[in-house]
Amino acid sequence: MKRLKDKIAIITGAGMGLGESIAILFASEGAKVIIADINKNAGEETVARIKEFGGEAIFVLADVQKEIDAEMITHVANEQFGRLDILVNNVGVQVNKTVIETTEKEWDYVLNTNLKSMFFCSKYAIPQMVNTGGGNIICVSSLSGLVGNSKQASYNVSKHGVIGLTRCMAIDHASDNIRVNAICPGSMNTPLTQSIPQEKLEPYYNLNVQKRFAKPIEVARAVLFLASDEASFVTGSVMVADAGYTTM
Ligand SMILES: NC(=O)c1ccc[n+]([C@@H]2O[C@H](COP(=O)([O-])OP(=O)(O)OC[C@H]3O[C@@H](n4cnc5c(N)ncnc54)[C@H](O)[C@@H]3O)[C@@H](O)[C@H]2O)c1
Repeated sequence: MKRLKDKIAIITGAGMGLGESIAILFASEGAKVIIADINKNAGEETVARIKEFGGEAIFVLADVQKEIDAEMITHVANEQFGRLDILVNNVGVQVNKTVIETTEKEWDYVLNTNLKSMFFCSKYAIPQMVNTGGGNIICVSSLSGLVGNSKQASYNVSKHGVIGLTRCMAIDHASDNIRVNAICPGSMNTPLTQSIPQEKLEPYYNLNVQKRFAKPIEVARAVLFLASDEASFVTGSVMVADAGYTTM
């Protein structure tokens, strides 16, 4: 039995990296997925990969920093599929700077993309889930949501905020039969980390007990668990998938 059979799922930032892995995995488990991304080519590529194995997916061009786009994505779910069961708030960007190096524009870009987007998408997804009896939200935080990091002031704050938002939504919407959880990945091999020069990345390889970066699919499998009925008693939780980074 497929674990997400006939579930309707929105995955933000599913054109590349972790979001792409989640979308492909969800579709292989029977979900109909809405790929929401600012990058048209990458989003359409994910849809094509899903259709190759007979999965169902559509692409929606959206900038989730914008309230109007977040609202539009949830409307697409309703218009195309008549319901919305799962929202994965995955989009995230990084600026690697200390507080004194960070400009106001950079601060707003990171906070708006990583945190405000999750507020917007959830704000419009929840009423739709309520209409059809419940749902499930997974917010992608980071190990940076649990500990401090050097030169990641705006990113770190945004990821701590994601955990707070997750916990509040889990409390407020438990009576609506909506579960809300956060996932905190450690470093993964995705376009986000591949854009950082190798010499800057090397120290990070030694910061977890497995001395390696994750493949995105390894974290996507944890997200699948949270999205599935197997996690029926799991809400308001912060799942860590960091190969031991935060234990050291
Ligand atoms: N890569 C890591 O090592 C790592 C570690 C911990 C947590 N994370 C988190 O995992 C999530 C995914 O990261 P990733 O490494 O796959 O990133 P990525 O940069 O590889 O992919 C991000 C995707 O989001 C899309 N996107 C960016 N801004 C957008 C916007 N405003 N609206 C819609 N789409 C937008 C991009 O086009 C891209 O397809 C993020 O929240 C990130 O913070 C990543």
